[in-house]
Amino acid sequence: MKAYIETFGCQMNESDSERILYLLENMGYSKTVDISDSDIIILNTCTVREKAKNRLYGHIGNLKKLKEGRKDVLICVGGCASQDLKEKIIDDFPFVDIVFGTMNIPELPELIEERISTGKRICSIKEEGFDYNIFSVSRTRKFKALIPITIGCDNYCSYCIVPFVRGCEKSIESEDIIKNIRKLAGEGVLEITLLGQNVNSYGKNLDKPCTFSELLEKISEIENIKRIRFMTSHPKDFSDKLINVIRKKDNIVKHIHLPLQAGSNKILKEMNRGYTREDYLSIVENIRSRIPGCSITTDIIVGFPGEERKDFMDTLDMVEKVRFNRAFTFIYSPRTGTKAAKLEDKIQAIEKRKWFNELIEIQNRISYEENKKLAGKKFEVLVEGKSTRGKNMLEGRLENNEIVNFKGEKKLIGRIVSVTITEAKSFYLMGELSNENPVREKLIAG
Ligand code: SAH
Ligand code: SF4
Ligand code: F3S
Repeated sequence: MKAYIETFGCQMNESDSERILYLLENMGYSKTVDISDSDIIILNTCTVREKAKNRLYGHIGNLKKLKEGRKDVLICVGGCASQDLKEKIIDDFPFVDIVFGTMNIPELPELIEERISTGKRICSIKEEGFDYNIFSVSRTRKFKALIPITIGCDNYCSYCIVPFVRGCEKSIESEDIIKNIRKLAGEGVLEITLLGQNVNSYGKNLDKPCTFSELLEKISEIENIKRIRFMTSHPKDFSDKLINVIRKKDNIVKHIHLPLQAGSNKILKEMNRGYTREDYLSIVENIRSRIPGCSITTDIIVGFPGEERKDFMDTLDMVEKVRFNRAFTFIYSPRTGTKAAKLEDKIQAIEKRKWFNELIEIQNRISYEENKKLAGKKFEVLVEGKSTRGKNMLEGRLENNEIVNFKGEKKLIGRIVSVTITEAKSFYLMGELSNENPVREKLIAG
C-alpha cells in the first residue's frame, strides 16, 4: 500500500507530515511520490493567507477525477485549513474521505480504520490537545532534521490565524528535545532546525522552566551536530542572553529570522506585535555589533488595514536601515475571526500591489548587494542535493541559509564541504568546490 503526502505552508507542517508518514508506515503504507500509484492521499494544508486556501480548493477539486476512476483510494485533508474550515471541506467535496485537524494527527490510524470499516466519511477536529511524540517521525532527509520545540501560539498578532488553528502555546520538555537530538546525532544528522511560532518564548509553562537560550546552549553541547538553526524569533522576546549564546557557540548558525512585519509604530501597535521600530533597530544593532557577519532575514506585510503611504514609507526606511539579507513579503490578507479582519481597510488592492512591488524591488537590490559581498570568499556548505542549474551541479546552503550552486560529484550530498563563491545573484550564489573535506575554519568569512 502506498501513501502520497503533499505538504503546504510552513516547516511546522513539513514536520507534521513527517509524523503522519511515521504513523502510515506503521500501518503498512510506504511513501510514494506518484499520486496515481497511491492508495491513500494526504493533503497537509495551510490557511495563513486567503490565497493558500483558494489554491487548496483548486487542489482538492483536481482529485475528483482520480477518485472517480479509483473509488478505493482514500483522500484525507489535514492541517491548518482543515482546522479552520472543519465540516465545510466534507460538505464541499463529497469525495473527501477524512478531514482531520492539526491536533488530531495521533489518531489518524484509527480514523483510517474507522473509515474503512464503517464506510462513513469522517471529520475529526479537536480545539485543544497536546499529544505530541517527537520521536515518532519518518524524516525526509538523512542529514537534516526538523525539531518542533513549541507548538501553537499565544501572541495573537491581530492579522494572524495561526493561534486559532494551532491552539495555545505549549513547549516540549527540554529533556525530550535533548534526548531526541542526541539520537539524531547518532544517526548522522548534521543540521537541525528548532521550530516554533515564537521560539524565544520557549519553556514558560514547563514544570521545570527553561529559557530558549538555556535550551540552545544545552543543544549546542551535543556532539556531531554541526549546524543548529531555529525559527521563528519574535522581536518582543529576543533576549541579550540569546545573542551571547549564538555568539559563543560555533555550531549555532549565524542567521536570525526576525520578522519585522511593519516599520510604522502605529501599524506595529495595531498588529499587536509588542515592539516599536526603535526596539527592533536596537536588537539589530546588538546582533550586528556582537555577532559579526550574522545574517538577518525577515517577514513583512504590506497593506495592513489603516496603513497609509507614510506608514509604508516607514517600512521602506526600516528595510534600508537594517539591510536584511532576505525578506519574505506578503500583501495583507484578511482572515475571518482575527481582530484585524474587522478593521476598516481603505487602501485599494491596486495601490497595495504597487507598494508591494516597490518593496520587492528595494529588497532585491539589497539582497543582491549583500550577496555580492560574499564573492571571492570561502564558506562551509552543507550539500543538499543536485542542482537544477546545470549538469553535474550540486546545491548546498551556507550557514546564512543562502543557496549556492557548484560543480561536484553526487557522493558529496549530505556532507559539509568548502566552497568559494564566484558569482552572486539576487536569489542564489554560484561557487567552486575548494575542499571536499569539512574544514572547521571560521564558519562565516570576515
Ligand atoms: N510565527 C511567525 C510567523 C508565522 S506566519 C512570526 O511571528 O513571525 C508567517 C508569516 O506570514 C508572518 O510572519 C507574516 O508575515 C505572514 N502572515 C501571517 N498572517 C498574514 C496575513 N493575514 N496576511 C498576510 N501575511 C500574513
Ligand atoms: Fe501569528 Fe504572531 Fe503567532 Fe507569529 S507570533 S504565529 S504572526 S500570532
Ligand atoms: Fe504554517 Fe500555514 Fe499553518 S504557515 S502554521 S501551515 S497556517
